Amino acid sequence: MSVHNLNPARQQPGRYDHLIRPDGLVHRTLYTDPAIFDEEMRKIFGGSWVYLAHESELPDPHDFKTATLGRRPVIVARDGNGALHGLLNRCTHRGSLVCVKEQGNAPRFQCPYHNWTFGSDGRLLAVTFPDGFAASFDKKTRNLGQLPRLESYRGFIFGSLNPEVEPVAQWLGNARPVLDWAIDKDEAVSRRWRVVKGTHYTFRANWKHQNDNNCDPYHVPFLHSSTAKMNEVMHGVGKGLDHVKGDRNRMYVQYLGNGHKLFDQRPEMGDSWPRVRPIPGKETHATAILAEAGEAMGAKYLELVGRAGINLIIYPNLFIMGHGMFAVYEPVSVARTNTRYYSTLFDDAPAAFNTLRLRFAEDFNNLAGRDDNDAMERIQDALDTIPEMEWLDFSRGLGTPRESTDENGVITGNVMDDTGVRGSYLRWKELMHAEPQLGVVT
Ligand code: FES
Ligand SMILES: [Fe+2]
Repeated sequence: MSVHNLNPARQQPGRYDHLIRPDGLVHRTLYTDPAIFDEEMRKIFGGSWVYLAHESELPDPHDFKTATLGRRPVIVARDGNGALHGLLNRCTHRGSLVCVKEQGNAPRFQCPYHNWTFGSDGRLLAVTFPDGFAASFDKKTRNLGQLPRLESYRGFIFGSLNPEVEPVAQWLGNARPVLDWAIDKDEAVSRRWRVVKGTHYTFRANWKHQNDNNCDPYHVPFLHSSTAKMNEVMHGVGKGLDHVKGDRNRMYVQYLGNGHKLFDQRPEMGDSWPRVRPIPGKETHATAILAEAGEAMGAKYLELVGRAGINLIIYPNLFIMGHGMFAVYEPVSVARTNTRYYSTLFDDAPAAFNTLRLRFAEDFNNLAGRDDNDAMERIQDALDTIPEMEWLDFSRGLGTPRESTDENGVITGNVMDDTGVRGSYLRWKELMHAEPQLGVVT
């Protein structure tokens, strides 16, 4: 595992030291400077692992799904033998996008510009009007570019342009048992689960705001107060977000290393089904699930609807909420980011369970998720327009006795402290100070 040394005094000195300070202050230019953004796309989104797709989205030979690695368009494709390839979605003729569909099954990709044809393994199969090319023209030198590294962990596929990057299972490190916990919960009830697309939106702010926000319970009682109030007035207490009211409880945040962090709500959550807010068709679907699956199994299904009690952020672009919900962040520019939500559905469960799960996944994103976007856009606007005010404060918890480090290097902080976020910024600095040798296999 790469070293995540959180003692600022012992980190390698580098050109970003003055922008991420040991007292928890982070400079505004990390969110506003296009040159820093470009460097992030190379060193963080190129030099480390980035989540691309889930194997269940492309189960069969020649299935594919498009994604982005940083800003680079890629195609995750299975060849005729079922082997996975991470292809750069860029024609080797004149550079056009080769595949313009999001997802599908195709033994060949035909470039729309001059119709060069590539196999699902990236090999150039045919050029149009081949007589026009010299005898020395070698098709083998015009295959689609491939990521030098593509690895899957329990179906989650990650890619990297850095041939030297450590194996995914090792890189996940202390995040791995939490991810396992989330997957195990689904797999204990279903042998046939698959990932499906949910809502998708763009916010007008830097990608790191979302990465910070998902491990920032401090904002929940305030920014989401209207959602919480509406919940309480309409549906009574004990639902939705009302376990996140203050910092005197058993919940916590953790920095797990390699940029990964966790906001763990499980100590205060209890069962998840009783906490589910009223959502369209809730009672009808619940009745159908219990009727079809029986009381015991039906109760297990219902318990997998609602929040699982974790915000696990796998750095830099994957946000696992558990109970089959996760989000993927795609940086578009220094002040623009796409968010794509996904859910898992069970092919061996009553149809009503899958419907209920989707309705719940939409519910939270469309209420509280909008508050978050709004906050991030306001931050971005102010950071962009007031250069005289330079710093963001991530010091909460620092210099207090509220933080402790265990034998695995996991740093645990009070639930409303910036422990996890600070760790991610030290990882940011470590990656930005490195010089990864990125490569493409052709
Ligand atoms: S750009 Fe793809 S065939 Fe010409
Ligand atoms: Fe939020």
